[in-house]
Parts: sequence; structure tokens; C-alpha cells
Amino acid sequence: MTKKRVFSGIQPTGNIHLGNYLGAVKNWVDSQDEYENIFCVVNTHAITIRQDPKELKKKTYELASMLLACGIDIAKSNLFIQSHIDEHAALAWILDCHIPMGDMSRMTQFKDKSVKNPKNVNVGLFNYPALMAADILLYQVDDVPVGEDQKQHLELARDVAMRFNRDYGECFKIPKPMIPAVGARIMGLDDPQTKMSKSAQGENHAIFLLDSPDVISRKFKKAVTDSQTSIVFDQTRAGLYNLLSIYEILTGKTREEIESEFEGKGYGHLKTALAEVVIETLRPIQENYHRIHKETGYLESVLYNGAQQVRPIAKATYDKTKELVGLL
Ligand code: TYM
Repeated sequence: MTKKRVFSGIQPTGNIHLGNYLGAVKNWVDSQDEYENIFCVVNTHAITIRQDPKELKKKTYELASMLLACGIDIAKSNLFIQSHIDEHAALAWILDCHIPMGDMSRMTQFKDKSVKNPKNVNVGLFNYPALMAADILLYQVDDVPVGEDQKQHLELARDVAMRFNRDYGECFKIPKPMIPAVGARIMGLDDPQTKMSKSAQGENHAIFLLDSPDVISRKFKKAVTDSQTSIVFDQTRAGLYNLLSIYEILTGKTREEIESEFEGKGYGHLKTALAEVVIETLRPIQENYHRIHKETGYLESVLYNGAQQVRPIAKATYDKTKELVGLL
């Protein structure tokens, strides 16, 4: 039986954090055996926000090392860099010509990012979801494992694919979002009303995957909770719920087990236990990272081979699209 295919991507901007790991990367790693996997460092998306060129290149390779360190296994998965395959940007143009302005204007990420970067509200930022749709549709994938914040972009990708197939004939497989039941939206530790993000400013906002044990403990200690005392899964208590969800995913314990573990205990106890679990989860990842990142030759060959392997799929889809619209 042939395996289903997944595609997902992550931007090399800022530093990868626990939200990225729990909402996306951990699931990519955990389901590697079940699927045919294609993962991508989406550096072309990153330039929708102005980047220092040297820094962007450095971050791209650091992130690729980190994905390998987290457990992406090249015997089971393909890993490549978006800009190494020109068909992504090329297909995005054709899709752009088939996405109504109204649909694109509804994208909440564009609204958020243009508020955060008022001096650089560029057309690429607006069209970002077309490039993302191209990433996915090029590879004829079944599922797209992402955090909840990408759901709206996925819907746009599905819509444009369905419209294109209807108007020109069968071309794209219709992808489905694969969003985890827990961890799809990890919140900022300093403000549990906002999503943990790479660009937030507060020094206790996010746990980064390369944070030292001391920093991790300090950030959890300062995490915002509430003035109540019981430790229970209650979605209305956003700070506590966020901490408990992280604990739930990383320990694999049930909610009942966790609630009874902390019965009669205070928030300090939970924060210490959680910090320990996170430190132990990140320890082997950090060790792998420092080893892999030193082996530049190895990393470059992994990424080169990754692009070589998937390029024929991208090219076949792109050529078909061109043919259908009368460009070939
Ligand atoms: P990016 O780089 O912002 O995030 C990478 C992945 O991490 C997830 N994520 C989170 N999950 C839970 N809690 C959080 N606080 C949190 N923050 C981020 C994201 O949902 C994502 O799955 N547009 C995408 C990159 C992209 C892509 C694609 C993804 C480009 N092309 C094609 C899938 C398929 C992005 O900016 O992700």
C-alpha cells in the first residue's frame, strides 16, 4: 500500500520555539513512519519581512540543522530549502492570477504582520498565502501538519486548488490540514492571550529550543497564571491551561493523572516539574544540534539531495499547470 504524502514548512526567521516544536515539528517527527514526508525551510517566505541577507542565510542553515536535531530522519523524510526549487515562486504567480482579491484580503496573518511592520507592507506579504499554496500544491500532498494559525492559509490553498481543477481539469490534489488536538496553539508565557511567536519582544515570552536550563527555569517561574490555587485543565484559565497542555504533550500522561499529580500542590510545584520536563526534552535536541551544525559539508549535502529528490515532483506539477493555462 502506498503511503500518504505530507508537506510542511517553517520560516527561518527569529529562533524556533516550543510552539513551533509542539504545534508542528514534533508531529512531523512522530509521524515519519506513517507518511511519505517532505519538509521545507521556507526562506522565500521570510523575505516578506526585510532580512539581513547574511543573517537569513545563516538562519536558514541553522534551522535545517535544528530540524535534523529534533529527529527529522533523512532515511524517512525529505528536507530541502524552498529557494532551491524555482517552481515554488513560479507556481505562486499562476495561483496569484486565480485568487480573488477578496479572499486574499481576509487573511488575518497579513493584517497582523502589517500592523507589526508598518514601514514595509509589501505586495509579497499580501501574496504570502499564494506562495504557501504553491509549496503544498506542487507536491500533490494528502496532509499538511501545521499549528492552528495556518488553518486559514490552508483553506485558501484548498479553495484555489478546487477552483483551478474545476476550471481547467484535474491538476492538484486537495490537501487537508492536520492540526494536533493539543498543542496547536501554544501561548506566550508572559501573556497567555497571545500565541507564542518568534517575533514577540518580551524576554519571558517564549522558550527557544536552544535556551539553557537556567533560562528555561526562569521563564517558567515567571510565567503568568492566575490568583486561583487548584491545578486543573480549565480553558478559561489560559495561563495555567497552557502550562498544563505543554506538560501533557511532553509527559504523555492523561489529564486525570496530571490533575491528581498536582492535587493540593501550588503553581510553583507545577512550574518546576514542567521546567524539568522541557529541559530533559531539549537536552538531546541541543546536543544533536551542536553536533550537526558543525558538519557543514554534511548539512549541505542533505539539503542538496533533498531538493534533487523532490524537484521532479515539483516540475511535473508546474509543467502540467502551465500546459493547462496555455503557457506551454
Ligand atoms: P511558522 O514558521 O510561523 O511556524 C512553523 C509551524 O509552527 C506552528 N506554530 C505554532 N504551533 C503552535 N503554537 C504556536 N504558538 C505556534 N507558532 C507557530 C505553525 O502553525 C507552523 O506549522 N506560513 C508558515 C510556513 C509555511 C508552510 C508552508 C507551512 C510556508 N509554506 C506550507 C505548511 C505548508 C509559517 O509561517 O510557519
